[in-house]
Amino acid sequence: MPVVSCHFTDGASFEVDADSGESFLEVALRHGVPIRNQCRSGTCLSCLGRYAAGSGPLSPRPGRPSSLLPVDKEQGKALCCVSEVTSEGDIYFDYPSDEAGPSEAKCFIDSIEWIASDAVKLTVELADGDWLDFRSGQYVEIAVPDSSRCRSYSMCTAPNDLPQLAFMVRILAGGLMSEYLTTIAKPDDVLTLRGPFGGFAWSGSRSAPQLFIAGGTGLSPICSILHEIRNVAGAKPPMTLSLGCATPEALLAPDYLRLLESWMPTLSLRLSAEFGDVEGAVMRGNALTAIDFSAVTPQTEAYVCGPEGLINAATKKLVEVGVPATNIYYERFVASGAT
Ligand SMILES: Cc1cc2nc3c(=O)[nH]c(=O)nc-3n(C[C@H](O)[C@H](O)[C@H](O)COP(=O)(O)OP(=O)(O)OC[C@H]3O[C@@H](n4cnc5c(N)ncnc54)[C@H](O)[C@@H]3O)c2cc1C
Ligand code: FES
Repeated sequence: MPVVSCHFTDGASFEVDADSGESFLEVALRHGVPIRNQCRSGTCLSCLGRYAAGSGPLSPRPGRPSSLLPVDKEQGKALCCVSEVTSEGDIYFDYPSDEAGPSEAKCFIDSIEWIASDAVKLTVELADGDWLDFRSGQYVEIAVPDSSRCRSYSMCTAPNDLPQLAFMVRILAGGLMSEYLTTIAKPDDVLTLRGPFGGFAWSGSRSAPQLFIAGGTGLSPICSILHEIRNVAGAKPPMTLSLGCATPEALLAPDYLRLLESWMPTLSLRLSAEFGDVEGAVMRGNALTAIDFSAVTPQTEAYVCGPEGLINAATKKLVEVGVPATNIYYERFVASGAT
């Protein structure tokens, strides 16, 4: 039976004997290896591991889709939940083995306000005695009341806004959470959150240019990161935020974003819409066409969030203009039920 050694950033290592034919995540969890996980279907990237060189002990399980991009695979990254063991080797995880896992917390709805023609901002406050730590850019699952379903949403607020959290939620006709938020939910209703999840987070760099690319509510975790950068004392990096939506009316909280731009002198904002009558500072196009890629350097760090098409197009373009794959961070908003 091949032995796989799992290494964590605190120096802890775990050995796992595993046969092929089973998801490596399931086997490793049974051996008590604390690998992060959420969707267990190759979507959320929580169970990402890396090899020291280009290849390692895991191979994709036949017929299991994976959200990893080609650049990730070339860099020796693997998703444990959709991989199986095919040889001995080592796999590395970018977090400590004693990291607290996701927790559950109750919260009360403070408000639900429309911030675009098809999006609301949901603001909640953690119940007394409940707590949920997170890093800017992460997401939680919210249980849809009176159903057995959960939906994933990224916080648009920063950790130091706790016990208040807020989410930007796109409203879809007939969507379970969408219907709940627009027809049933009211202030003081109780919601259950579980998390945090995800590795989409600010690198902490103060000097490298930061490029934020958002499609629709993909703006939410980027706002969280921008809040964190704003809260950090000292010099801020040069930053560009490009938000693209279908129409000018669908642009999320544009007045708030302009305010953010005036509060953060090193932030430059691009707003674009693909359809409808664009005017003023709103450009025709999408979040990518609004960016001057000739100004992007190999030092640039890029954060991309939104639907799959945007992630694929943005990562391809960024690599083409010389941004190393290690400087590209992304979060894909997969439609619930898509996997
Ligand atoms: C990691 C992660 C983070 C996310 N963060 C956010 C966030 O911050 N804000 C946000 O608005 N959403 C986010 N999503 C998407 C969110 O979890 C739900 O899928 C979405 O809100 C739809 O839920 P619903 O219950 O209203 O609709 P559902 O009942 O799930 O769906 C109704 C119909 O719409 C389709 N559908 C579902 N989602 C989408 C979509 N995104 N685009 C197009 N069609 C869709 C479904 O296939 C179905 O036909 C995130 C998803 C992931 C995986
Ligand atoms: S748990 Fe593996 S990708 Fe989500």
